[in-house]
Order: sequence, then C-alpha cells, then structure tokens
Amino acid sequence: MYEQLMEAGNILTNTLLHFSNPIVMVAEEEVTNPDLIETIKTWSQFGHPILMWALLGLSIYALYLGIQARRTRMADKETRKELVGKNFNNRHHQIGSIILAFMVLGTIGGMAVTYVNNGKLFFGAHLLAGLGMTGLIAVSASLVPLMQKGNEFARLSHISLNITLVGLFLWQAVSGMEIVQKLLDNL
Ligand code: HEM
Ligand code: HEM
Repeated sequence: MYEQLMEAGNILTNTLLHFSNPIVMVAEEEVTNPDLIETIKTWSQFGHPILMWALLGLSIYALYLGIQARRTRMADKETRKELVGKNFNNRHHQIGSIILAFMVLGTIGGMAVTYVNNGKLFFGAHLLAGLGMTGLIAVSASLVPLMQKGNEFARLSHISLNITLVGLFLWQAVSGMEIVQKLLDNL
C-alpha cells in the first residue's frame, strides 16, 4: 500500500514537472535577461518623483482643508452651521491619512530604488530632509487623539509641524527635480 502511494506520488510529481517545465524555463529566461532587469531598474527611478508630486498637491489641499476646519471650529453660530455641512474636518482627516501612509512608503521606496540603482545611498540634503519629514508627519498624526480632546497645545503643534512639513516639501521638490535632471542626463 505504502509503495503504491509513493509511486502514485512520483507519477503526479513527474506529470506536474513535465507540464510546468516550459513555464519555468520561460520565467528563468526572463529573470536572467540582463537587458530587461536594467530597463526595470532604470525606469523604477521615476516612480518616486511622480508619487511625490502627487503628494505635494495633496498636501497643499490638506492645508486648505485644515484651515477651513479651523475656520469652522472658530466661526460664530450661524456661519458654523453652514460650514459644518461641508465636512472639512473629516475630509482633512482622510486626506491627511493618505498623505501619512504614502509619505512613509514613498520615503522607503525612494531609498530602496536609490540603493538598487547605485549600490549605496547619497548622504545629502534630499535624504536627510526626506527622513526628517517622515518623522514630522508621524508625530503630527500622533497628536490627533489629543487634538480631538480639545488640547490647544497639541493643535498648535500639529499646525506648526505641518506648515514646516509643507515648506520642506517644496524644498524637496526643488532638490528632487535636480536629481531627476541628472537621471535624465544619464539615460
Ligand atoms: C499637510 C499636512 C497637514 C496640514 C497642513 C494640517 C493642518 C491642519 C490644520 C490647520 C488643522 C486645524 C486645526 C484647528 O482646528 O485649529 C488641522 C486639524 C486636524 N488635522 Fe491636520 N494637517 C495635516 C496633516 C494631518 C494628518 C497627517 C492627519 C492625520 C492622519 C491630520 C489630522 C487632523 C485632524 C483629525 C484635525 C482635526 C482635529 C480636531 O480639531 O478635532 N492632519 N490640521
Ligand atoms: C516632488 C518631490 C520629489 C521629487 C521630484 C523627488 C525625486 C527623487 C529622486 C529622483 C530620487 C533618486 C531616486 C534614484 O536615484 O533612484 C529621490 C530619492 C529620495 N527621495 Fe525624493 N523626491 C521628491 C520628494 C521627496 C519627499 C517628499 C521625500 C520624503 C518625505 C523624499 C525622500 C527621498 C529619499 C529618502 C530618497 C533617497 C535619497 C538617497 O538615498 O540619496 N523625496 N527623490
């Protein structure tokens, strides 16, 4: 019984290997195709700049929504009624969460792609400001529960940290485009 089972197993394995062989061979050929790998490596460098331009746009929108949320909170009774309907607070929170997630992933991605293409990271302004920004946005988001309890200090810290964040973002766009220019020159 045991031997028959083993034999059936062997037949099954051989049949599977037989049919999967061409697929495995094609996959191996593609994976070891150096031109393809080089092309993927080169073009992967443009994913991070595109994502970051989109995030810069979203951050300016988040700033606008945040200012409107503040205006709503501070408005007199009549205006407040009108502004509350526009849901600025929730919209700001949602956009803020998206920025938080993609900024962290975008920073890690930028470092990964730089390392894959150069075998090292460049210890310069863009790297340091980028890591700093990821720290800032994490702290700023962590203040939300306190802000929701009405803590004024947390609220002011959130605003100051994020205004610094948007300022650094503009600077990252400038230094980032200088890197993009270098990448394009090397194509
Ligand atoms: C570009 C980044 C951001 C800017 C410029 C910004 C700015 C602001 C401003 C001006 C306010 C109004 C404060 C007030 O009512 O006086 C605010 C509130 C708020 N922000 Fe942000 N923020 C940013 C990112 C984030 C992120 C990443 C989160 C969370 C994931 C977040 C969550 C909130 C919440 C929940 C409030 C309302 C708090 C409350 O009063 O209940 N923000 N933000
Ligand atoms: C529009 C804005 C931005 C542009 C155009 C841009 C562009 C670039 C480019 C072209 C690279 C090099 C990729 C490579 O060599 O393969 C890079 C690397 C990097 N970027 Fe950005 N970036 C921008 C914003 C940001 C932001 C906002 C952050 C962080 C919050 C960031 C963090 C990084 C990091 C950490 C690296 C790796 C740097 C290194 O090790 O040399 N970037 N960026």
